[in-house]
Amino acid sequence: MQEEKTYSPGLEGIIAARTAISFLDTEQEEIVIRGYNLLDLIQRAGYVEVVGLLLDQQIPDKQRQQEIEAEMVGSPVPDAIYAILRLLPSEMHAMDQLRTAVSALGGFDKEAGSTDPSSEKERAPRIIGQIAQMVANLTHVAQGREPQPFSPAYSFAENFLRVIVRREVSPPEVRAFEQSLIAYSEHELPNSTFAARVVASTLGDLYGALTAAVASLKGPLHGGANEAVMYMLLEAQNVEGMDKLIRQKLSRKERIMGFGHRVYMRRMDPRAQLLKEVLHQLIQAQGKGQEYLAMCQRGEDIMRSEKGLYPNLDYYAAPVYYLLGIPIELYTPIFFAARSAGLLAHIIEQHSENRLYRPRVLYTGPRGLQL
Ligand code: ACO
Repeated sequence: MQEEKTYSPGLEGIIAARTAISFLDTEQEEIVIRGYNLLDLIQRAGYVEVVGLLLDQQIPDKQRQQEIEAEMVGSPVPDAIYAILRLLPSEMHAMDQLRTAVSALGGFDKEAGSTDPSSEKERAPRIIGQIAQMVANLTHVAQGREPQPFSPAYSFAENFLRVIVRREVSPPEVRAFEQSLIAYSEHELPNSTFAARVVASTLGDLYGALTAAVASLKGPLHGGANEAVMYMLLEAQNVEGMDKLIRQKLSRKERIMGFGHRVYMRRMDPRAQLLKEVLHQLIQAQGKGQEYLAMCQRGEDIMRSEKGLYPNLDYYAAPVYYLLGIPIELYTPIFFAARSAGLLAHIIEQHSENRLYRPRVLYTGPRGLQL
């Protein structure tokens, strides 16, 4: 006899992995990343430092950071990947293009099939760098421009932003972008990380696991929310428009993108609060964009009073990216590029202490039918 009480739709509240990588401690309101508070990392660390922390299980010293960054910046994407991207319809969703590119990248890695954690850890910085370069060049290639590799003259974060926007970028812009990358770098066991661990648990290789994660992250209930938020802000145009639009959507029982979270649901996602500050600082540095903060604030107020719901990270990441001049279709791919560090840490951990994922079902179909 199957017990209904063992069934949790959407695996809500189920502990599905043992991990030393990260933990959302909702009681203490802390996102723990290998012992550090993610908010401290966003405020005080660099993205490369966080990559080192995720992979090495400790904050890397300066020399190790340089090694990791040199791999991330200096590993070119094979020309064949861009040739494949050029063959895809230009109107194909950027996340679908990226899913194809991540999968194809495995073909150019001689150790692609290896699930040995030490080989995976060694290759990880190169793969993170290649994914970022593919993401930075997606729109350019789709629009017929030549891809640009990263340059050793700039930091990883500056390279990433420069190649996307193809202009000089100021230090406050680079820092705002880098802080968003850290905010997105790791977040326990969301759907995409679970998808990657499920694939890795079959002893599938890291390219397969990452490809599954891209597919998962595209969905509007997950990473796809950041671009949806920006379309909503553009449709609203101003504070009054935002007020009207959100109330209309709520009266039609539509979901408002950028609000709610399976784990935080009735509290503010701590990352959203920090990205709101990043948005504020970017507006001050650029001397423009105040209206986006005002629109977001109005949306936040309405959602809190009408639904008791709070923003998640995607809500405030969207206007940050918009003010940086990043094409909207790249918002979710950037989320993936930043998260590739956390995903690789999870894939390596899964391969280090593997047990195949194979849950059971609560069967609701008929029995005993006769042919
Ligand atoms: N807008 C309006 N109502 C909402 C929203 C929202 N964004 N989110 C949840 N609710 C409501 C639901 O309608 C439901 O109401 P009910 O109990 O009256 O039926 C209640 O809150 C609970 O919602 P569930 O869907 O059961 O919660 P779940 O844990 O499955 O959903 C999710 C979490 C998918 C993130 C949801 O909040 C949502 O759809 N948000 C919008 C999409 C989004 O922003 N995704 C980004 C997630 S964070 C990230 O990936 C970085």
